Amino acid sequence: MKKKSRTRIISLTVIMGITSIFIVMINGCKVPESIANKSGAQLWGENCIRCHNSPDPKTYSDDQWDAAAEHMRQKAILTDVEITKIKAFLKSAN
Ligand code: HEC
Repeated sequence: MKKKSRTRIISLTVIMGITSIFIVMINGCKVPESIANKSGAQLWGENCIRCHNSPDPKTYSDDQWDAAAEHMRQKAILTDVEITKIKAFLKSAN
């Protein structure tokens, strides 16, 4: 292989690599539609009941919900968007 064409293949590979990293980054930040369309109440009903009864929003104050939700976000492996919506719902209904 001539030196020139090898250089070309290498730079093409680099460009393609950078492009795919970009695509992954952009998609990684996109909220899946299934989550985007769900309300906090829905997410609360579907997720928090997996391990125990979905807790009544009235159980805790806003501050207490902040702490409990952060704790449960880790247990339930929820995304930021999901837990933010759930928290907003809990605080609006307590
Ligand atoms: C993966 C299982 C799991 C899921 C999903 C889960 N929880 Fe829990 N939750 C637990 C366990 C286990 C405890 C008790 C032990 C502990 O606190 O670590 C608990 C305790 C709690 C408590 C008591 C106070 C506290 O912070 O410990 C609250 C409030 C609570 N969960 C709210 C929620 C809410 C709201 C959701 C939905 C966002 C949720 N949980 C989803 C497992 C889960």
